[in-house]
Amino acid sequence: MKIAFVGTGYVGLVTGAVFAGYGYDVYCIDINSERVASLKQGSVPFYEPGLEDHVKKGLQNGNLHFTTDFKEGVDGADTVFICVGTPPLQNGEVDLSQLKSASQMVAEHLTGYTVIAIKSTVPIGVEEELEKIIEEHKPKSATYEFASVPEFLSEGTALENTMHPDRLVFGVNSQKAADVLLTTHKNISGERIVTDLRSAQMIKYAANSFLATKVSFANGVANVAEKVGANALTVLYGMGLDKRIGQAFFKPGIGFGGSCLPKDVQAFYDIAVKNGYNFDLLRAAYAMNTGQVDLTLSKVHEIVGQDLSDKKIAILGLSFKPDTDDIREAPALKIIDKLLSLGAMVQAYDPVAIPNAKKYYTNSNSDKLHFVQSVDECVNDADCLIIATEWEEFAGLDLTKAKSKMKAANLIDGRNIIDPQKAKDAGFAYIGIGRK
Ligand code: UGA
Repeated sequence: MKIAFVGTGYVGLVTGAVFAGYGYDVYCIDINSERVASLKQGSVPFYEPGLEDHVKKGLQNGNLHFTTDFKEGVDGADTVFICVGTPPLQNGEVDLSQLKSASQMVAEHLTGYTVIAIKSTVPIGVEEELEKIIEEHKPKSATYEFASVPEFLSEGTALENTMHPDRLVFGVNSQKAADVLLTTHKNISGERIVTDLRSAQMIKYAANSFLATKVSFANGVANVAEKVGANALTVLYGMGLDKRIGQAFFKPGIGFGGSCLPKDVQAFYDIAVKNGYNFDLLRAAYAMNTGQVDLTLSKVHEIVGQDLSDKKIAILGLSFKPDTDDIREAPALKIIDKLLSLGAMVQAYDPVAIPNAKKYYTNSNSDKLHFVQSVDECVNDADCLIIATEWEEFAGLDLTKAKSKMKAANLIDGRNIIDPQKAKDAGFAYIGIGRK
């Protein structure tokens, strides 16, 4: 069975590599020739544990192919998965340009009957617009059907999530398309939900929006716990033991980031409003998330003082979560931006995300921001340390050593990974999120 993936980002590359591992003839297509050239050599352009090995295996056994040529990839494929980016535009709408050009290029090379399965997160009903493009550009003899197969993988655990997802959602218009997708996914575990396209698209937006709301709820609980002198972690754990609530996505912190939760909770709110329903809960969940960054800044003032000019702040962690070098919407960067605007000096370290952070700050001419190569260098001479990402390396922080290097032993534990008592015993002034 030949399967094509258009777009070699997290979704297309991970899913393509997994399907190649199941013995399918997989073609991953991308218009970025540099990326394709390095993927052909087995080099993965982003950090995702285990992925490079998986790609190399696929290349070695000949099941995985990378190409810029849509004819090579699409011709004769049973299913074409579209996995291109759908980023937000300045006006908040979804940028469909990649989706539209991918549809056109796929259309030109369709042969026989093909299921065009959209994995990108797309506005509900978008296939009606894409159908016009396909109809205009496809060969007369070719037939096709759109399907919606939303992606639920998380960065950092992408391979595991793809091989063993909680569920597979197939939005289809016919049993024939459903059968193709059920066959394509036969090696993957998880409950199958076969539904219409709009419901499938909505499951994705609603799931990410719910996760975002759950994190914001946990942050709200933490903020109240600080005011009343309770321990938020105990409160949330006590709540989460109720099976109807659960412990997952219930960790308070400096906020949710990444390319999905912030974008999707906003997009779902917009979809609701456009269709005449004011889903205010989503707007509140998003606003609360922005508020977590401001609260972190007020903690810096509380511990270091009002005047931050030339205070040196150490930041551990730049990626939006551990086990990824992705810095999109990372709370760490929002905190750094605010610190710099208040005149603080910032020393930052991350195990893998520094190259991406340097690119983000390419046009910043601030001489107050320094990226360093180790935890030791990061805390050196600092007035305050902020843990912004819960990398495992930081959980084992040598507190005594860190204190001996810092100018002042102030610690803001933005992910609650340090034992407050141990920090205090080591001589730190400690502030967590929802606990002191
Ligand atoms: C998210 C979803 O979890 C995936 O199911 C989905 O497929 C993906 O978006 C997508 O739409 O492509 P991801 O963006 O990789 O995955 O990251 P998450 O693991 O969801 O984490 C998002 C943010 O929430 C991170 O900044 C994390 O630190 C934060 N978070 C998460 C918390 O602050 N507390 C928690 O308890 C959990």
